[in-house]
Amino acid sequence: MLTVQNQMRIKMESRSVNEGFARQAVAAFLTQLDPTMEELSDIKTVVSEAVTNSIVHGYRDRPGYITVSVRLLEGRTVEIKVRDQGCGIADIEQARQPMFTTGDDTRSGMGFTIMESFTDRVRVRSSPGRGTLVTLVRTLAGRQGARA
Ligand SMILES: Nc1ncnc2c1ncn2[C@@H]1O[C@H](COP(=O)(O)OP(=O)(O)OP(=O)(O)O)[C@@H](O)[C@H]1O
Ligand SMILES: [Mg+2]
Repeated sequence: MLTVQNQMRIKMESRSVNEGFARQAVAAFLTQLDPTMEELSDIKTVVSEAVTNSIVHGYRDRPGYITVSVRLLEGRTVEIKVRDQGCGIADIEQARQPMFTTGDDTRSGMGFTIMESFTDRVRVRSSPGRGTLVTLVRTLAGRQGARA
């Protein structure tokens, strides 16, 4: 088990305006690791994809709450969990396929693929009617000389 060096959690309503809030809040929390602009941008992108999924898919029928929690683990590893109590995913393997979508024609079905390409690990736990938990793990290299 990796030691937890710091952690935070935010809970918000499933409103589209809160996608930007979640992304900025996670980025602000991570400044203590002195990430590169690229690392920060990658992490904002994946948080945005996961939170947007909770808003547009998980809570497509009704509003609800989304929780975003971040743990900083030893070795500059960042673990982000995005959780909703929405409709859930019946077939997770299918949902993770590139270009699979149950959304309208504004959706390209690339969210999970983007999450996979900008992190080291993506874990999805979900059950229909109960909700979805997406865990995103990324180890930061960081700036030269930034390591303690
Ligand atoms: N939190 C969630 N709750 C319920 N279903 C989800 C959730 N996240 C993803 N899904 C399901 O997985 C599918 C694939 O998600 P993914 O993010 O890859 O693509 P998308 O959201 O459909 O399109 P894009 O992200 O490109 O706009 C969704 O269409 C939806 O069916
Ligand atoms: Mg998506």
